[in-house]
Amino acid sequence: MAAMTIAKLAKMKADGEKIASLTAYDASFAKLFAQQGVDFMLVGDSLGNVVLGESSTLPVTIDDVAYHTRAVRNGAPDAFVMADMPFMSYATPQQACQEAAKLMRAGANMVKLEGGDWLLDTIRQLVERSVPVCAHLGLLPQSVNVLGGYKVQGKEASAAENTLRQALALQEAGAQLLVLECVPSSLAKRITEALDIPTIGIGAGPDCDGQILVMHDMLGMNSDYLPKFVKDFLAEANDLAGAVDLYVKQVKEGSFPGPEHSFKG
Ligand code: KIV
Repeated sequence: MAAMTIAKLAKMKADGEKIASLTAYDASFAKLFAQQGVDFMLVGDSLGNVVLGESSTLPVTIDDVAYHTRAVRNGAPDAFVMADMPFMSYATPQQACQEAAKLMRAGANMVKLEGGDWLLDTIRQLVERSVPVCAHLGLLPQSVNVLGGYKVQGKEASAAENTLRQALALQEAGAQLLVLECVPSSLAKRITEALDIPTIGIGAGPDCDGQILVMHDMLGMNSDYLPKFVKDFLAEANDLAGAVDLYVKQVKEGSFPGPEHSFKG
């Protein structure tokens, strides 16, 4: 299959074809995900939780993400690979450019940054220097200490308006994808309809242009705590390949996420 590109992801939105995405952290899973038709992979800073066993993403470093990005690239040479910029690696535009280069050299096609208004200049500078950017709004795990926990965001009308406004500003600054995490489905729908760029939801309801899950969650490996938006696809399949196949199928046909995996406003 021909390599995935940002232009193809944008065309999928235009054509109404849902985008199915998963996090990946190593070559073996990256190879499996590519074989099962996952449209793109994210080397998430969730590796802090699921690979390193930390209690948040804050201890993750740029070298950690670069190491896992290289592994994912080696396992899936033609895949579209997004890599997370970890906590405090993009505090200034200059730092963001220097640190993003490490991820691009490790094999990323795009970097992801958490935040809104304060990132507009950083995004402009990254894009001008040929680093494609995915923005991330809603629940921002790197801001857990400010948010006071992992809570649904954008429930009040003023917060919803602010999130929509920031999404438009991030697109205007040059972001080419937007992850929406843990927001009411109604807000994710409004943002998805307002933007030209694809939205990728996690706990953001069925109306986003695509979906992403942490791979360990969709394989039922997170036994301590199962967020509402997670489904264990391995429980319904015979093996790993079958679980990934089922995830891709249900995202594409729009049966995942269902109302039971989504938040109301
Ligand atoms: O780090 C991560 O896995 C993420 C996803 C939750 C989108 O940012």
